[in-house]
Amino acid sequence: MVKSVIQQLQQEVDIHLTQLIEKRVSDIRLKEAMLYAVQSGGKRIRPLLTLAVGASGMSKNEAALDLACALEMIHTYSLIHDDLPGMDDDDLRRGRPTVHKSFDEATAILAGDALLTLAFEVAVNANLEASQLVEAVKILSTASGMSGMISGQMKDIASEEVTITLEQMKEIHREKTGELLLAAVRLGNLFVSDETQKEAFVSYATHFGLAFQIQNDLQDVCWTSEQTGKETGKDSELSKNTYPSLLGVEGAKDALASEIESCKLSLHKVALTPETQQTKALLIEFLTYLEI
Ligand code: IPE
Ligand code: IPE
Ligand code: MG
Ligand code: MG
Repeated sequence: MVKSVIQQLQQEVDIHLTQLIEKRVSDIRLKEAMLYAVQSGGKRIRPLLTLAVGASGMSKNEAALDLACALEMIHTYSLIHDDLPGMDDDDLRRGRPTVHKSFDEATAILAGDALLTLAFEVAVNANLEASQLVEAVKILSTASGMSGMISGQMKDIASEEVTITLEQMKEIHREKTGELLLAAVRLGNLFVSDETQKEAFVSYATHFGLAFQIQNDLQDVCWTSEQTGKETGKDSELSKNTYPSLLGVEGAKDALASEIESCKLSLHKVALTPETQQTKALLIEFLTYLEI
């Protein structure tokens, strides 16, 4: 039941993303590159979080779907740029050649820029009250910007071949990955009125974000390229600081388990009612995405 809801939501996100790009991008090559990037089958965890919280998984909330897709565009742009030769220099993403490999570097840079810009265009055109729109733009810009994802990416690159502490590592993970996942829930919270619920979802997302990047680090060591759809073993090749490099594989797995436990505890604070039932079931199901 929950799994079929997730599949349906993923499909709706896929269709909406394609329509938004088809409708608004005129340059053919740019459009092809943007569609190539968004249509390559990501897990859509960020839009799923927004819809689980904001539309109780019942996605017939067009505004929530717009915001969810805007966030997925920002995430996709971050991946296109993350893979560029000047950054992680990866040839494979989601089981296919990266955008700069399939097209060229300039097109990849511009497709990323265009997705970032389109995200804000889509967000401000969502059918919401002006005050909610302002809040949505604040959430998206803060999470993706200089105190969020971009800052984390900068620190991630700057700390290659440098020894850092676990606290510094956590901060990098929070910024480069946690902030966009937290933004997903904050966008969903725009449609929630109960303050206790909102806080619980924020707490869940904070732990989920850290867990998500710890798992990403572990996958790079423990999984095959077929499983991840990416080149593996890249973190040690680039002398990246990761949870396994700092704590060892077992230490990283323990840290992951502890964050997953905290996600569950956060949800205990949400009373089970007919309104919250679906949201809670979905948020519990998303924890399976963190398995290693
Ligand atoms: C990968 O994100 C990069 C990180 C921020 C950890 P996802 O694991 O969500 O990637 P897709 O969208 O499913 O490909
Ligand atoms: C990706 O981090 C974070 C962002 C794109 C913001 P990584 O570089 O660790 O993720 P993968 O392994 O390339 O997906
Ligand atoms: Mg990176
Ligand atoms: Mg990378």
